[in-house]
Amino acid sequence: MPTQNTSLPSDDLPPGMVCAVQAGELRLVLWRDADGVARAAEDLCPHRNVRLSGGYMTDGNLTCPAHGWEFGPDGNFTGSPDPSAEGMCLKMFAAREENGQIMISIAGPAVG
Ligand code: FES
Repeated sequence: MPTQNTSLPSDDLPPGMVCAVQAGELRLVLWRDADGVARAAEDLCPHRNVRLSGGYMTDGNLTCPAHGWEFGPDGNFTGSPDPSAEGMCLKMFAAREENGQIMISIAGPAVG
């Protein structure tokens, strides 16, 4: 289990942006949901392991650049109906924002 947490300045993640951060050997994708809450997940699409950090936002959902699958704030697939996407979800990690910093905890079990 990875044990290295990471953080970045809040200003580095404006609404609508998707970015990658490294936490030890684990690469994370960060975005803000429709309410502006910072979210963090492993930077891999569960469809074909494409980096989600190359993706974009669609109506507050993180969207994979390869085939357009969308994931909501809890990491669950939420895009257009696709039988092969049933039950797909991202490996989420706890992110909290405080004093101008977004802190991501990967020390515990993934959330979501
Ligand atoms: S690899 Fe992400 S939707 Fe296909």
